Amino acid sequence: MAGNADSLDVDALVDRAGGTVARGIFVDQAVFEAEQERIFTRAWLFVGHESLIPKPDDFFVSRMGTESVVLTRDRGGQVHVLLNSCTHRGMKVCRYDQGNTRVFTCPYHGWSFATDGKLAATPGALVGVPHFDRAYHGELKRDDWGLVRAPRVALYKGTVWASWDPDAVELTDYLGDMRLYLDFALDGRDGSPGGSVVVEGVQKWRVNANWKFAPENFIGDMYHDISHRSVDLVGIGPSGGRGRRDNLRPRTTICFPGLGHGLIGEPPHTSEPPYVPAWKKYPEVEEYFRQVHERRVALLGERPRVTMSVGTIFPNMSFHGRQPRTIAVAHPISPTEMEMWRFCLIDADAPAAVNDAARHYFLRYSGPAGMTESDDLENWSYATEASRGPIARRQRYNYQMGMGHARPVPGLRGAVENGEVTEENARAYYSRWSDFMRGDPWTPPAAEYVPMPEPARETEDAG
Ligand code: FES
Ligand code: FE
Repeated sequence: MAGNADSLDVDALVDRAGGTVARGIFVDQAVFEAEQERIFTRAWLFVGHESLIPKPDDFFVSRMGTESVVLTRDRGGQVHVLLNSCTHRGMKVCRYDQGNTRVFTCPYHGWSFATDGKLAATPGALVGVPHFDRAYHGELKRDDWGLVRAPRVALYKGTVWASWDPDAVELTDYLGDMRLYLDFALDGRDGSPGGSVVVEGVQKWRVNANWKFAPENFIGDMYHDISHRSVDLVGIGPSGGRGRRDNLRPRTTICFPGLGHGLIGEPPHTSEPPYVPAWKKYPEVEEYFRQVHERRVALLGERPRVTMSVGTIFPNMSFHGRQPRTIAVAHPISPTEMEMWRFCLIDADAPAAVNDAARHYFLRYSGPAGMTESDDLENWSYATEASRGPIARRQRYNYQMGMGHARPVPGLRGAVENGEVTEENARAYYSRWSDFMRGDPWTPPAAEYVPMPEPARETEDAG
């Protein structure tokens, strides 16, 4: 494949009608660079959670694609997202993961940048220049050299999102009716006043795999259960279940083709709470989650629903919507390397025993040391490696499973339901990927918007 990103033939990379995808999009430098320019500078990206920066002057270092960014909270409570790159020579102005400060002082030559509007009119403003009079003769226009700020920042039920595109659609429109399922992760108790908080300590690790393997897997790959068979057969997996995983219960997958989001869940209108064998040992925990489920069913009423399991918000944010609730982000590092981050969410006001059980489940499941996630990491790494050679990369990946068998979900804008085992969700994801790569990401989906009653939602434009 050509090394020039401008010459990419996006329609050849993703064949929507044929259900195949060129392997080059998982290994080629030119595609990777185009993704950074066309997707990661435009899409809404999950960058963190408000509970990581609860107090004024708190900060949390995150990523937007290959860029390092810093989330800050100013003294007025506003959240900002700043590019973590000094405007003098590009040095990272913050090399910590999180903390509290009123200024970031660059370690290279000492320029200082305000984190809040009290020190300067604008967060990120350049407020200190060593030897300003002697070296710059007082002539440097400090107002022009503040840290770059993301022009669009939005908060949604504690989560923080940002986009570099000033013309991006509103976050709520970007999420569409996928919000219904995102709420499963963010409101463990459906609108409880305490909300969710992130457990201290975000898991971060590198994987020698293209970043898209993770969101593609979480959006709806029910076909890969064979990967996890060993832990399930012997009953040492995080759920505590035993036996063949695919016999446990039927699943269904739903996706939003115009938006590129999708999920795996239990079938609609289920009245039973998800069965998690591990909770059996803790009656208090089991009872708590049973009550959570009943509240959720009552709240959803007759609306289309599944019991959320796991899903993806395009391009790189995935989440578990039932206990333990987690957010996984696949940050691109290079065509063949990603950095995965996992956040564990707990209910701020749940009993300690409940949150402890959720946290322990999270640790048994997630990351390179997790009993389940390590299986996936191995698959993605080998698949990336085996797709790099000159012969291998001429081939295409097959996404033809279940083509033509999706059916609309009444009441959910643009959604289709696909049954248990299908690749419709992945096709929806790569279709959205190609919209962005062609430079046309904000064309609204063709499906008509069908409004529906919703639980109380909190969203505000913080930018
Ligand atoms: Fe930051 Fe020079 S690179 S002050
Ligand atoms: Fe898996």
